[in-house]
Amino acid sequence: MTFVAPSLPEMATGENLSKELSSISFPFSNLLRSRRCFLRAAWTLQRQGIIRLSQVAGTADIEALNIRINQVLDQVESYRASGIAEHPISDAYLNVPENRAISGYKQLVNADRSVINLRFARPDGRSGSDAGMVDIFHPEKLSSELNQLTSSVLQAEVIQNLLWTSCLSPVKIKCRNLYINNGVEDTRGFHCDGRALKFKAFLFLSDVRDLGEGPYCYVKGSHHDGAPWLRTSAFNQANGIDICEFTQLGGSEALPMMARAGDMVISSQAGAHRGHPQHPEGKRRVLVAMYSPRSKTKLSRLDRLKRSARRWITSW
Ligand SMILES: [Fe+2]
Repeated sequence: MTFVAPSLPEMATGENLSKELSSISFPFSNLLRSRRCFLRAAWTLQRQGIIRLSQVAGTADIEALNIRINQVLDQVESYRASGIAEHPISDAYLNVPENRAISGYKQLVNADRSVINLRFARPDGRSGSDAGMVDIFHPEKLSSELNQLTSSVLQAEVIQNLLWTSCLSPVKIKCRNLYINNGVEDTRGFHCDGRALKFKAFLFLSDVRDLGEGPYCYVKGSHHDGAPWLRTSAFNQANGIDICEFTQLGGSEALPMMARAGDMVISSQAGAHRGHPQHPEGKRRVLVAMYSPRSKTKLSRLDRLKRSARRWITSW
């Protein structure tokens, strides 16, 4: 079978979208007190590749975080406006096109302090640059207040247990990021972040109510080796396209993950996802925790099952 061109999924809208979102949504307070709700959330994540947890963080913490983030952004802005080649924030590296302190994803993840990355249009004009986005690696290292606030809102212990129950593998946080998107119109198309086990937990610091605000979009179930992935692999291989670009999503449906500040979306990064292009006035702020397997030790399926069962039993 041949596929002549890349194809996009339909975007879910209206009542259908509300129904789809509510089928993968769980109140965080229920998750904490009900084992049944916890297991349903873990199972849904395993089946669909994505869930939404409502009200993980309270208004006071979200406001406090936003105030501190605004202070950091003001410092960066005044540095850029002044043109003085002086480091604006003592505990961070600043990556700007004219002066990249750190490059390469691995180096960014392993950096010893925060890295403030300002994204600009690519010199060769290729699309998907995320120009205008501010992507801060390790925001918790910017100050002790940010460290305390990020750890409080990310609820790492609960989320780690949830992921472990869902995928039957021990995972832990490898990196935290802060995505600040204001009027980012040139976003990358549907892709996966590789097919290895990897999750992201997106804690929303601003409401995302419509497409113009740039919601995170996801094709449910595409983290499994079903038709979209098999067709994409074949098409990309035949056409010399990077395997991570999801090119065959025709006939699928993408969910724009509308959320309120304080909600958390958790997704398997093996599935097809993208940030929707924003309206020039659109704003979105998200704190992200990336989880991946604890170690490279290979465990048999039975061992993984045993470890997960032990962990689950002792966590209740
Ligand atoms: Fe991605």
